[in-house]
Amino acid sequence: MITQPTEIGRRLGVAGCSALFAAIWACAGSAVAGPKINVMPLPERVKPVAGSLVIDAEFKIAIRGHRESRIERAAVRLIETIRTLTGIPIESHVGYNYRRATLVIECGGPCETRHAFGEDESHTLEITPQGATLRAANPIGVLRGLATFAQLVETSSEGFAVTATNIDDRPRFPWRGLLIDVCRHWQPMAVIKRNLDGMAAVKLNVLHLHLSDDQAFRVGSRQFPRLHRDGSDGHFFTAGDLREIASYAYDRGIRVVPEFDMPGHTTSWLVGYPDLAGSSGGITLETTWGVFDGCFDPTREELYSFLDTFFEEMTATFRDPFFHIGGDEVNGVLWDKSATVRSFRKRTGLSDNRDLQAHFNKRVSVLLEKRGRSMIGWDEILHPDLPPGTVIQSWRGGESLADAARRGFRGILSNGYYLDHLQPASFHYQVDPLSGGDDLTPDERALVLGGEACMWSEYVTPETIDSRIWPRLAAIAERLWSPGSVTDVDDMYRRLVHVNRHLDMLGLRHRANYVPMLERLSGRHPVDALRVLCDVVEPVKNYGRSAARRYTTTTPLNRLVDAARPESQSARRFSVLVDRALSGGAHGQPDRVLARHWLDFWRNNHGALAVVIRDSFLLREIEPLSRELASLSAVGIEALDFLERGAPPPATWSTAQVALLERAGQPQAELTLAIIPAIQKLVAAAGEISD
Ligand code: ACM
Repeated sequence: MITQPTEIGRRLGVAGCSALFAAIWACAGSAVAGPKINVMPLPERVKPVAGSLVIDAEFKIAIRGHRESRIERAAVRLIETIRTLTGIPIESHVGYNYRRATLVIECGGPCETRHAFGEDESHTLEITPQGATLRAANPIGVLRGLATFAQLVETSSEGFAVTATNIDDRPRFPWRGLLIDVCRHWQPMAVIKRNLDGMAAVKLNVLHLHLSDDQAFRVGSRQFPRLHRDGSDGHFFTAGDLREIASYAYDRGIRVVPEFDMPGHTTSWLVGYPDLAGSSGGITLETTWGVFDGCFDPTREELYSFLDTFFEEMTATFRDPFFHIGGDEVNGVLWDKSATVRSFRKRTGLSDNRDLQAHFNKRVSVLLEKRGRSMIGWDEILHPDLPPGTVIQSWRGGESLADAARRGFRGILSNGYYLDHLQPASFHYQVDPLSGGDDLTPDERALVLGGEACMWSEYVTPETIDSRIWPRLAAIAERLWSPGSVTDVDDMYRRLVHVNRHLDMLGLRHRANYVPMLERLSGRHPVDALRVLCDVVEPVKNYGRSAARRYTTTTPLNRLVDAARPESQSARRFSVLVDRALSGGAHGQPDRVLARHWLDFWRNNHGALAVVIRDSFLLREIEPLSRELASLSAVGIEALDFLERGAPPPATWSTAQVALLERAGQPQAELTLAIIPAIQKLVAAAGEISD
């Protein structure tokens, strides 16, 4: 019989599970009500003002100064968001002539151009109990200020309110992006749109769409229809879809940068157009992951006329000044095999495949330059011969970004921001685009434009992608927007709780899909016991899944590892609790009681979960994990017993538990128990008790 949280609450002498959770939250510093504002990214300057601005059914927005329909639509969206946040049926009162309004927007003028890079995003937000004023030089600044305002709406003792504050804000970096790979697993319009909403909420300004790879070509082409027909499973964006995405993004102050990866990662092009590789055909889409041989033949003139026509078509759809050509992971196998390529290299004095790729990049950059596009590519493209406007996107390390800057190239960082590595928010938060460039001159530092988080889609579907992006992306957004001095990890996690809820309200599915996925796994049984386990496990990190089994593009991603969140908040809170329990401070004793109850709860979970596991083919693989949660929790309780008694455990006990915990750290069903480090701390503390 599962021990329900309410029973634990009763035994704790508190009113029920809500009190237990409240205690845990408070202990993790998550429920602190106070003057700190709950906004991510944290603004550059925040000055508290007394009181708060009440948000009620009379909420109105007045727009003054520059008139633009984008501002009106953003104001209406803010009211819709506030309606969702508060449940109050607020009418969409947005006007130019209101004499009195809750929020006044003063916009100085238009943006430079429709797709300008490096627009002024600064704004001020003055919020008093009488009303709020948002001032910005252009509509982009207005959008950023509105995003802040929406996050400030809170439930207070007086009603819904925004804490009175003066905010003066601007971004640290002008390029703050998210890459979504729609190739390995197709991600439809709804995924893109809701993630654009999330990006706007945390002030990201670039959506990088990875549109072609070995597994699929995801854009419909009028000029070369075999690209999408032969090169995809039927899922691709039409030009109309892409225009819709672009205008949705534009409304939110987000640029859309397309990536067509070349000359490697091009199998999907070659299925319909094998001559691009100098092949006569028989090429099929890849269905697994990795680096494949499929590659353009850069010695063929026909390739460049093909790309010339292709770019003409694509630059009519994608209006951003930047165009991404990928350029990563060219293995050169086909080049080395080809007598034509070898003789071309010899004839033209290109010493190796790197030089040959540089030759290709140079030819491509000319095609893009004549259409007014700056080329961007992964760090493999870095070469002194590139046009000076080229941007290097570094996936291999901050050092290569610094290297690019030293050579006068602009760059953005993605190394350390790979969301598919499933690292905790704190890991990404500590990665700084300028960390590899201590010795850069101020001019060189200015060439580092910012960063982009990458959501590669080998292991995500439309159902799971949000949970791999959010809320951790908010921490990266803060790193890229807020001053470099904003580094308090605990405060980041405190605010992440709030922004996480906010993103949920905006329609992202990272929380909403969790329980339904667990219900699918539980079948006809209640989901509770499975949820207890899933709350404390994490999927293996850094592509550990690829070592566990062979995945293909059609492998169902419907197991517990797919439902589990990259970062277990329960485990993080338990870890904070254990740290406090062991710190010997005033909270030591009550925190030890609380930790014991959690461990007790987890120890007793297996009985109920075993029944669910028995009846679900998808859950069979997690039986050992569930058993392990019980046995490790029992170890934690034993450690607490020793600590309570102040009596050292026998040496054999410590040795055995250390070994047990070590073994338990190995992944099972591609999952690890995230509470192991905290239990290890309890065992270590028990082992340190002296006679
Ligand atoms: C990459 O991860 N190959 C850009």
